[in-house]
Amino acid sequence: MTGIDLSRRSLLPLAVGFWATTSASASPPTQPRAPWWKNSVFYEIYPRSFQDGNSDGIGDFIGMKDRLEYLAELGVDAIWVAACFDSPNVDNGYDVRDYRKIMPDFGTMENFDAFLARAKQLGIRVILDMVFNHTSDQHRWFIASRSSRNNRYRDFYHWHDGKNGAPPTNWQTQFGGSAWTLDEKTGQYYLHSFEAQQPDLNWENPEVRAELYAILKFWADKGVDGFRFDAITFIAKPEKLYDLTPEEIPARKTFADHGDRLSFYLKDMYEHVFKNTDLYSVGENWGVSRDEYARITDSRNKELSSGFRFDFQIKDNVDAWRKGTFHLSDLRAFNRDNSFDDHPGTWPVVWLEDHDYSRSVSRYGSQRPEYRDRSAKLLATMMLSLRGTPFIYQGQEIGMTNFPFKSIDQFDDVFAHNEWRLQVESGHISSQEMLVNLAATTRDNTRTPMQWNDGPNAGFSVVKPWMLVNPNFRTINCSAESSDPRSVLSFYKAMIRTRKQFPVLIHGTYKDVSPDDPQIYAYIREDSTNRVLIALNFSDDEKTLPLPEGKTVKRIIASNMDRTQIQSSSMHMQPWESVVVIL
Ligand code: NOJ
Ligand code: CA
Repeated sequence: MTGIDLSRRSLLPLAVGFWATTSASASPPTQPRAPWWKNSVFYEIYPRSFQDGNSDGIGDFIGMKDRLEYLAELGVDAIWVAACFDSPNVDNGYDVRDYRKIMPDFGTMENFDAFLARAKQLGIRVILDMVFNHTSDQHRWFIASRSSRNNRYRDFYHWHDGKNGAPPTNWQTQFGGSAWTLDEKTGQYYLHSFEAQQPDLNWENPEVRAELYAILKFWADKGVDGFRFDAITFIAKPEKLYDLTPEEIPARKTFADHGDRLSFYLKDMYEHVFKNTDLYSVGENWGVSRDEYARITDSRNKELSSGFRFDFQIKDNVDAWRKGTFHLSDLRAFNRDNSFDDHPGTWPVVWLEDHDYSRSVSRYGSQRPEYRDRSAKLLATMMLSLRGTPFIYQGQEIGMTNFPFKSIDQFDDVFAHNEWRLQVESGHISSQEMLVNLAATTRDNTRTPMQWNDGPNAGFSVVKPWMLVNPNFRTINCSAESSDPRSVLSFYKAMIRTRKQFPVLIHGTYKDVSPDDPQIYAYIREDSTNRVLIALNFSDDEKTLPLPEGKTVKRIIASNMDRTQIQSSSMHMQPWESVVVIL
């Protein structure tokens, strides 16, 4: 077997621990017809935990603005700012009291405007989180709605009479417990898919929709570039009330309607707000089938631009608290399913972390500390070489890990406390077992403060932060990684550049070439210019990957191990090695 010497002449400096070629075989850098969001790499900011700018221990827009240069350097094109409007914070901002006011914890409208203006100067777009399935129970609409049965806002929400002294149906919330709460004053129940303080809006009412569209226009007029729609697949309710079967309840089957009504509302919103604009709309498309997803996000249908799917995330995070096992086969099955090569009008989202799940390197990476960095880079290689729009979550780019939770008091999340009551206090499971499960799955893992440096509170705040800082901040932090060419952060930067340089990684077709391999996951992305092989060794062991029949490697364009050579007919891979090559 002859080894191919991949001459360094064609490679960028080794110093970045990663290579990207600049030669002529890179595809043309832009695809003029594709909307901006297809070619963009997004970054999600969870404002409360990103950067405190006014020394009160809570992240805010002053802090976010100060960190924009960092994001520009990382190379991201757009930011999704998670829930940031005025809220009593029963669910950390996902219970909005006023959609036209910035959450006071996060600053003022002036602070927001300054953040947006600076982002624009740096060429970074901004999308905001619109929580439109429900409001806070302290929103003025709900306060009016619950005041009397005849109030003009009554029909803004879902009010029903009880059934024989019990709620109208046996529907359950996503956070556990009945989805109906009795309002003593008017003697009726209102519906909520989440906490009782998050009453669901009635999208069937055209006045509700008109109000919501006006809010979108208000922010679009300010210059934001689009919206992430929270719990958007929950907005349509069944036409008639009915009970779920006893089996469907523990399975947390949703009562939401994913069919015609949902499509009707989304098309209506498109017509009123998105038509003839280049605003991006990305849904939190929870619980929909692949076909429903394809329908909602098919550009010909004019509903949403794209959406997050959860089919893979829920494999090892069962019922949002039980720790399951990560199987490579689940990941590969999902990526095949999510490439949507068979639906050219559908554009997927590629993501591993957000503010609702634990850290990807702890979940899918090696459990051996010596391979942590390498596995974080391997995950970056995958994220940035799949068809769709990648969303990086804050801290993912430095390989932040789960927090070592030791007791229930350390959790902030309302869901964790609810589930503790439901499972431990009612005797279903021991506190020890629950802690092990929650520690692995809790969304608090991604809500610990961003680790900027090895100074006090990881540089997040000069005072005690609202949430515990992960004790590993002294080694895992942006400042240390910025000056280390072999860090996870440097790898992310380089991989983002490579994705842009080789549009085949964005738009090319997808083919799994290792469908049954339990260790190595390899796939080919292809367009009219390039055929690229991505090989990822998801294991602590070495393994050899035969190259596809008759193929040889022309050039390595990414490697998480500074690889310079590949055998002509096979590739011997180190534990957690990732490599991207042109065939
Ligand atoms: C999804 C959000 O991402 C999550 O944080 C929130 O709790 C629910 N939707 C309810 O709004
Ligand atoms: Ca602050």
